[in-house]
Amino acid sequence: MKFFLWVALVVFFSGCNNSEKENTEINGDIVYDMYKPSEMSILMNEMYDYNLKIKQEILEGKTPVNFPTNFLNIYTAELSEFKSRNETFQAYSSLFVENQKEICNTDAHSDISERYNNAINLCISCHKTECTGPIPKIKKLLIN
Ligand code: HEC
Repeated sequence: MKFFLWVALVVFFSGCNNSEKENTEINGDIVYDMYKPSEMSILMNEMYDYNLKIKQEILEGKTPVNFPTNFLNIYTAELSEFKSRNETFQAYSSLFVENQKEICNTDAHSDISERYNNAINLCISCHKTECTGPIPKIKKLLIN
């Protein structure tokens, strides 16, 4: 029972579903590493909070004007697993950044909530390839 509780906790805090690999076995006991967020996890949570904030602004009829430049760290932030970035990952990073910037483009012709949803859908697309755990949470960011 205790074992299952720990696994559930580890999975819950890591966001992705594959952190059990980080456990080590000492004298037959399984030792669970304390979850330490990676640079990428921290960045992702900032991206989540920012989008939650601007969703509210957009619903209130405001237009966000400042693209947070630290989002460009998506190209370099260290990942929690020793995965290297493949071409798909890079492609999704660029598409996401482009679309997230477009929300703040005051010359854009398309509707702001449409541009916002395009960016959020790119979060989801990348997550489908890399890390499916947070998808239900990300979907709540969409403007219906
Ligand atoms: C280019 C691919 C990609 C894009 C685009 C992307 N993510 Fe992620 N996301 C990841 C990866 C990979 C992780 C796991 C990071 C790690 O554990 O090091 C992650 C982790 C997360 C997490 C879990 C963080 C935690 O606490 O561990 C959340 C929440 C999240 N992303 C939300 C978002 C949101 C919101 C967006 C869009 C605004 C987004 N992601 C865009 C790849 C992406």
